[in-house]
Amino acid sequence: MPSRSLVRAMPALLVFLALGCGEPAPQPQPGNGFDPARFVQGRPRLDAPYIATDLEVVDAMLGLAQVKPDDYVIDLGSGDGRILIAAARSNGARGLGVDIDPARIRESNDNARAAGVAGRVAFRRQDLFQTPLAEADVLTLYLLPEVNLRLRPRILAEMRPGTRVVSHDFDMGEWRWDQRQRVGDATIYLWTVPARVGGNWTLSVGGRTWPLVLEQHYQRFAGTAGTARIEQGGLNGERIRFRADLGEGRRTFEGRVSGNMIEGGDWRATRVG
Ligand SMILES: C[S@@+](CC[C@H](N)C(=O)[O-])C[C@H]1O[C@@H](n2cnc3c(N)ncnc32)[C@H](O)[C@@H]1O
Repeated sequence: MPSRSLVRAMPALLVFLALGCGEPAPQPQPGNGFDPARFVQGRPRLDAPYIATDLEVVDAMLGLAQVKPDDYVIDLGSGDGRILIAAARSNGARGLGVDIDPARIRESNDNARAAGVAGRVAFRRQDLFQTPLAEADVLTLYLLPEVNLRLRPRILAEMRPGTRVVSHDFDMGEWRWDQRQRVGDATIYLWTVPARVGGNWTLSVGGRTWPLVLEQHYQRFAGTAGTARIEQGGLNGERIRFRADLGEGRRTFEGRVSGNMIEGGDWRATRVG
């Protein structure tokens, strides 16, 4: 017959046994020994948190980038896929979304199927820093300022001149935006990837030639044509414009950059270095 005190102690004894037969209770640990990463093991490390763009802002981003049916749109960090799904549904575009979080990719595929655009958009689990960018006509971003800055050199080096880049809320530091728009509480920014023109060229005008030296700073450039200063140099994708006085009064030069050639009607330039 168990004693009365044992009966009274039974519930506590059962809890004690269930908790591991007398393992000592953990001692409180002073200091910063707590490692929150242990509690998110298996979850991907995000370079930007998941926050979806409001649909009104999505529409404005696609409008600012003038997304058209033959455009291929890449959304880096594509969340639930809403930007690409809207681009496919409303603008007829095709696209690729990449996200590091597999839950977002599952959600995006479900959303694309429900929206009837699964044949036009694809979602891939991938690190955005490993995603090739060269195929895109339009790049959409809603990330963080430092992530935009890490992407900036790749955008300028890998993407075709004329590619439109649109970012929700965050700019590109010293690469100044071409257009900026407020949408409710949000700000959206547009850049057009400029042709790469820095270096040495030979400028030919009316049967004469000048050494043309250009120093490029994003979509702006300065330099010299012979002894003349290049003024108001600007690029819009592959379209180039500058002013210079080659001895017959200051004139405007307008043309199109195509690799190592610039064609401008009555003038042209060929890259020499
Ligand atoms: C602010 S949300 C933007 C979602 C969507 N583009 C939109 O505008 O609605 C950022 C997304 O980037 C994803 N992300 C964060 N770091 C990433 C990385 N290194 N590679 C790919 N995706 C990443 C997150 O999982 C999240 O879905």
